[in-house]
Amino acid sequence: MAYKNILVIGGTGFIGSQVIARLARGAAPRITVPTRRYESSKHLLVMPTVRTVVADIHDEAALERLMDGVDTVINLVGILQSRRGPAGTAYGPDFARVHVDLPRKIVAACERRGIKRLVHVSAIGADIQAPSMYLRSKAAGEAAVLSSPEIVTTVLRPSVVFGEQDHFLNMFAALQKLFPVVPLGGAEARFQPVYVGDVAEAVVAVVQHQIGAGKIFELAGPQIYTLRQLVHLAGIYAGHPRPIIGLPSTLASLQAFCLEHLPGQLMSRDNLASMRVDNIASAPMAVELGIVPTALEQVGPRYLAGVNVQQQLDAWRRNARR
Ligand SMILES: NC(=O)c1ccc[n+]([C@@H]2O[C@H](COP(=O)([O-])OP(=O)(O)OC[C@H]3O[C@@H](n4cnc5c(N)ncnc54)[C@H](OP(=O)(O)O)[C@@H]3O)[C@@H](O)[C@H]2O)c1
Repeated sequence: MAYKNILVIGGTGFIGSQVIARLARGAAPRITVPTRRYESSKHLLVMPTVRTVVADIHDEAALERLMDGVDTVINLVGILQSRRGPAGTAYGPDFARVHVDLPRKIVAACERRGIKRLVHVSAIGADIQAPSMYLRSKAAGEAAVLSSPEIVTTVLRPSVVFGEQDHFLNMFAALQKLFPVVPLGGAEARFQPVYVGDVAEAVVAVVQHQIGAGKIFELAGPQIYTLRQLVHLAGIYAGHPRPIIGLPSTLASLQAFCLEHLPGQLMSRDNLASMRVDNIASAPMAVELGIVPTALEQVGPRYLAGVNVQQQLDAWRRNARR
């Protein structure tokens, strides 16, 4: 199957940018990257085979137009927060729109355009019975993309992803530069963080070597940590390790409730609910991906040492649309 003309939806983000940098090497395919804001895509324009388009990907006609001449679609669109839905609904309206309706629209547009290859990035722990709206909506999105008999689909499920520009360890590194202690909900939750370069390599391997038809690959790093250990490491690498105070669940919920109503939404009750299940892989990384997972200890000290609090504050401000 050809991969000469690739549409990377969600390609401007943390993982997408790394995927595109790898796809754009050598005998590069043509790559189209839609975005809501031209500003978010400027860093990709230095790559000659990359074209960015300001478009509303939720509009089915616009989405289909983006697929002109495309043979492969990669979907990396994801959000961490959503309003809550009415009682009894599995996830709120924002998760429904981005994690479920959008994948459905992508599948429908691929079918109409005769596109046969789709790579979809989900999240480890995605399960319709999971304790959080985030994970339940991710499971529904997976079901949508795997439902088409006409499309060869591969789903990738990363654990929490680390690397330059990550949303997770950079936040905890910056918080420890700003504050003398870290009150932490979900401190004993377990994660198996995976390096962004490895996630990007996995996406590229799946596209270039045509592997994983109809499969779900979990992507996780070589080691399991509690959240407390990760926050501590982020503090050490940033040069400001602070005491970490694990919060009991009621206080953690109260903290998350307050944070989800503050600009930047650093944490929500739904994020806390996601941590009730382990964020770890059920098996080692699939051999066919050909990746030796990178340890956090290899790269964390390099990029977290230079954590820039002002940049982090700007990122939170952007997130809060301020
Ligand atoms: N980072 C992690 O630790 C992690 C862990 C597990 C799974 N994942 C999954 O991996 C994928 C990529 O994550 P990431 O960390 O690279 O995300 P990211 O940096 O936040 O990028 C998200 C991308 O999605 C687009 N996007 C966000 N909200 C959108 C909306 N409402 N409508 C249309 N486009 C929207 C953004 O495009 P524009 O702003 O340019 O329009 C951006 O390109 C997501 O599906 C995420 O759930 C990430």
